[in-house]
Amino acid sequence: MKIKVSNEKATRLLNCGMTVLVTAAYKDKITITPCAWHMPLSRKPSSLGIALAKTHFSSEAIQKSREFIVNIPDWTLLDKLLVCGSVSGRESDKFKTAQLTQKPAVVLTKTPVIEECIGHIECSLFDVKEVGDHFLFLGEVVYVQADERLFANDFWNTDKVDLIFHLGSKFFFKSSPYTEYKK
Ligand SMILES: Cc1cc2nc3c(=O)[nH]c(=O)nc-3n(C[C@H](O)[C@H](O)[C@H](O)COP(=O)(O)O)c2cc1C
Repeated sequence: MKIKVSNEKATRLLNCGMTVLVTAAYKDKITITPCAWHMPLSRKPSSLGIALAKTHFSSEAIQKSREFIVNIPDWTLLDKLLVCGSVSGRESDKFKTAQLTQKPAVVLTKTPVIEECIGHIECSLFDVKEVGDHFLFLGEVVYVQADERLFANDFWNTDKVDLIFHLGSKFFFKSSPYTEYKK
């Protein structure tokens, strides 16, 4: 038997994706926004999308600065991720509140990376779509870096790192060790 799930909860059936920390900045304010709604969009040019609520400070900052960074946290950062998800960058300096460290990005000039994260994808905004109560920000990837101990042969080594996956609400799970499929 299958249960009926409300249309608004369709996201919960899909929402098992990796959670990232988006950094965005405008003038003297910088924010860190946990984001589970993100997707790769194109290889050439390398592009991705992030869906952020219209009301978030990050949405305002990205529209003004036209850039954002997708930072990849590992499981050890879950507590800090939840701190960043509990306040808006309008009211709080999340780098201070969550005790995270800002480091200049390599290509982007306005937005910092989060040093404690294990990877960073710097994106230049090329389009914004309005989708209901969210904006879908489309970014062209301009620089990518990852911890060499954890990212090898173009993959996260999930024998060595636990990535954070979000089921919705306060429920999370870790990535598990990888399997190489051989027929
Ligand atoms: C695990 C997790 C995932 C989240 N994913 C999203 C998301 O994909 N899109 C979104 O708009 N908000 C998401 N949020 C909520 C925002 O991160 C949160 O409201 C944040 O405080 C907004 O900060 P800002 O106003 O500084 O942008 C998520 C929160 C958590 C804890």
